[in-house]
Amino acid sequence: MNLVVKNIVILISGTGSNMQALVQAAQQRQWAQRYGARIAGVLSNRPDAAGLAWAQGQGLPTKVVDHKAYPSREAFDAALVDAIHAINGGTVPDWVVLAGFMRILTAGFVAHFEGRLVNIHPSLLPAFPGLHTHRRAIEAGCKFAGATVHRVTAELDHGEFLEQAVVPVLPDDTPETLAARVLTQEHLIYPRAVERLLASPA
Ligand code: GRF
Repeated sequence: MNLVVKNIVILISGTGSNMQALVQAAQQRQWAQRYGARIAGVLSNRPDAAGLAWAQGQGLPTKVVDHKAYPSREAFDAALVDAIHAINGGTVPDWVVLAGFMRILTAGFVAHFEGRLVNIHPSLLPAFPGLHTHRRAIEAGCKFAGATVHRVTAELDHGEFLEQAVVPVLPDDTPETLAARVLTQEHLIYPRAVERLLASPA
């Protein structure tokens, strides 16, 4: 059966552990054979992102678009759009997956990739959009925390929820210990959410 190729471009800013989980799931769960899906490349807005070396080690194309080199968000996003097209052979990829990508994207960028953009956020949205989610959950006295995979819209950390995972907040938790517990779940739900998108009719 001839599968239509589905190209995925992943954006990271740091360690890229979610990117690694996606790449490994693509290999282990045979996304190419089952859905025609391929990871076209990995981009970062930070030249020192540790995930870049790992992706190169997997033979994946990588690119850096350093946000510090641009005078405005709009200028950076325009360069990012060009880089995403370039790493995908000059065309728009089917999916742009934000994996620990720590830049707020402009409405223009979101509109350009409308319906193709997904993100993972380390809280149980709609609670705690934005930064420092684990500290805020602990300070609020939450008994549970988690992560959310969602479609990206122009409104930060909004958009349709695709997957969520819940973890307990333990009495002696610090933001770091809670983040580690949540991250383990992120590595399970993000590949699951992306695979479901790949399996769904276009
Ligand atoms: C993750 O918790 C992710 O949800 C958040 O950044 C953290 C680091 O992600 N956006 P990664 O290890 O770089 O994928």
